[in-house]
Amino acid sequence: MSAAEPVDLTVADLHPALGDPALTSMNFLNEVSERYPAAVSLAAGRPYEEYFDLAAVHRHLDTFHRHLVDDLGHRPEQARRLLLQYGRTKGIVHHLIARNLAVDEGITVDPEDVVVTVGCQEAMFLVLRALRAGPMDVLLAVAPTYVGLTGAARLVDLPVWPVVGGSSGVDLADLAAQARRARAAGLRPRACYLMPDFANPSGVSIDTAHRRRLLDLAVEEDLLLLEDNPYGLFHLDDGPRPPTLKALDTGRRVVYLGSFAKTVLPGARVGYVVADQRVAGADGRVGPLADQLAMIKSMVTVNTSPIAQAVIGGRLLEHGCSLVAANIRERAAYTRNLRHLVAGLTRRFPAVPDRPAAVRWTVPAGGFFVVVTVPFPVDDALLDRSARDYGVLWTPMAHFYDDTAPVRALRLSVSAVTPEQIDVGLDRLAELITDELARRAG
Ligand SMILES: Cc1ncc(COP(=O)(O)O)c(C=O)c1O
Repeated sequence: MSAAEPVDLTVADLHPALGDPALTSMNFLNEVSERYPAAVSLAAGRPYEEYFDLAAVHRHLDTFHRHLVDDLGHRPEQARRLLLQYGRTKGIVHHLIARNLAVDEGITVDPEDVVVTVGCQEAMFLVLRALRAGPMDVLLAVAPTYVGLTGAARLVDLPVWPVVGGSSGVDLADLAAQARRARAAGLRPRACYLMPDFANPSGVSIDTAHRRRLLDLAVEEDLLLLEDNPYGLFHLDDGPRPPTLKALDTGRRVVYLGSFAKTVLPGARVGYVVADQRVAGADGRVGPLADQLAMIKSMVTVNTSPIAQAVIGGRLLEHGCSLVAANIRERAAYTRNLRHLVAGLTRRFPAVPDRPAAVRWTVPAGGFFVVVTVPFPVDDALLDRSARDYGVLWTPMAHFYDDTAPVRALRLSVSAVTPEQIDVGLDRLAELITDELARRAG
């Protein structure tokens, strides 16, 4: 837009979130990658595209259609209507999601407590919209946190209070302290948002004992836990995965947020929320929080595209409702890439005996992300220079903190690249870091 262009509105007259860095962050990062299409992207958290298969999408749709007729006994015209007409607000693959959670996670869920959403992003929005009852409400969130959560909170005017993540994934003393501090200020902490498995962006996971302590603390502090789990299936080791918080939740403390973006297809835009908390309605009737979320959803997206749901449903059915079984190739690719990236960092930044390492990185047990810490601030200007002069993209960690303090770290993602691209990207990143260290030393 040029300065001379006539203006009808200013952003100051629109919702305050529209000027907020949480909302502009994703656009900024997309714009940088569009401006430098030749740069190797270790920034994108998109899933691996090699296995995308258009023919499979048609097959999934047919599989789900057959399921409606053969398994659920719908007449052909009913099945056609279910797929092509406006539909049930809470969705049409809720029973398969419940089955998937039982098969893969050992979670027992009443399908009526599930709302199928337009991606996990809508699920987060619905939950935050419901929980933000008034100006006294605040959300606690483990920092650094997913920017989509911060942005959704902004849109519903819900302040986000950071909780220290640290190496355990959530610092329980800080969580308790923040909850009490909020209450002492006359505020109402409604919930704590976190990703117990291979968090975005930190890559950190919470161990099982700590998960149990977290659930106990949630009871003591009367908090809900919003568990977001898009990466949990992509663990490096073949041993058992730790149980999800929801699997350990005996007191309906956990609202579970699910995404099919990484385990089926991001383009389907299907996610879900399990919200089994009992809510007493104005009429005294008790129902699941899911019903209240569906009420909000009916005014936001009406219902999640049944065609998109059918694609997800078909993929689930073709694998006995197990996303573990459906993602064997994908998990192998992410495992290979993550190991390759960590080994590549070790080779390019070898440890020097008796000298503290200038460059350090996390070694996650799975997921898509590695955080590299450097001895200088990492900001958007450096990213721009990295893309332009060195041909490599990554994400400044500052984007995942809800303040303007400088951050000396960047996030690398292994999900959308080949090992060869990782090599090229790391060579370029090493050159940038070496030049930056020399520039600052001199
Ligand atoms: C932690 C986390 N939650 C939610 C989402 C969004 O998921 P969806 O694409 O299903 O909206 C992402 C996407 O990257 C994510 O990293």
